[in-house]
Amino acid sequence: MLDSITVRRMPFEFDEDIDPVIVPGDPEQSFAMVAGSLLLPHLEPYLIRSMKAAENKIDDPALLEDLKRFSAQEGQHYKMHMKWNATVRRAGFPELARFEAELAQDYERFSRTQSLRWNLAYAEGFEAFTMNAVKLLMEPNGFGEDLSPFMQMVEWHFVEELEHRHVAFDVYEHVSGGYFYRLFVGLYAQWHFTRWIRRVAKYMLKANGDRGASRAPSNVVAGATFEMPTIRDVLPRLLRIYMPGYTPHEVEVSPGMEALAEKYSAMALKRS
Ligand SMILES: [Fe+2]
Ligand SMILES: [Fe+2]
Repeated sequence: MLDSITVRRMPFEFDEDIDPVIVPGDPEQSFAMVAGSLLLPHLEPYLIRSMKAAENKIDDPALLEDLKRFSAQEGQHYKMHMKWNATVRRAGFPELARFEAELAQDYERFSRTQSLRWNLAYAEGFEAFTMNAVKLLMEPNGFGEDLSPFMQMVEWHFVEELEHRHVAFDVYEHVSGGYFYRLFVGLYAQWHFTRWIRRVAKYMLKANGDRGASRAPSNVVAGATFEMPTIRDVLPRLLRIYMPGYTPHEVEVSPGMEALAEKYSAMALKRS
């Protein structure tokens, strides 16, 4: 349910071998999505570390509970993405290891050298960006029927991003707060992770071209009509998160998202 944070353990299984061009005929869009998935097992553990570091600064039991559920959801997300990402590695792209090592070092360094306030502002910069991208991509009713396991994973993940959309904001506000600080660190965060995604997608596109893969435009992902938003699409929506009075508590989500939350709750493994 979108007014609470439900931790779901999902049963998704993926084929051993996949075509990394997951949007048939559209390597550009495919590799942007693949790079996004590759980012998460580095970024989400960093979010969890930052939340963990904030725990003893929180004296509101409800917020502490939200924080724990946020971290539990993110933990499920990155583990599932790791499982899918292994299929990409089997498809080649040897330079990915170098890109990932560089990213892992960045997040390890942020945890070690930056203040808790900075790390929480980064977390909120990511969460606010993601929440807006999710709304743009999925509303009003999600990606459609007959989705591939990959797209189901993305849909489940995105629904949970909507469920916990206020937590990083609340933790930042509770622990330190400050509009301009959140704004500037958030902008840096958005630059940092979107740059990594763009670089990885560009590399994959080149490597894919080098091995002579064909290319023809299409927007079809396993039965769903799907349009990848550009930064230009996301930016006008992002503007609201840069406004001084912004709060994710006032962001409304479509009723169709509620239905998806129930669908994935029913699909989740029963053992808690
Ligand atoms: Fe997540
Ligand atoms: Fe999140």
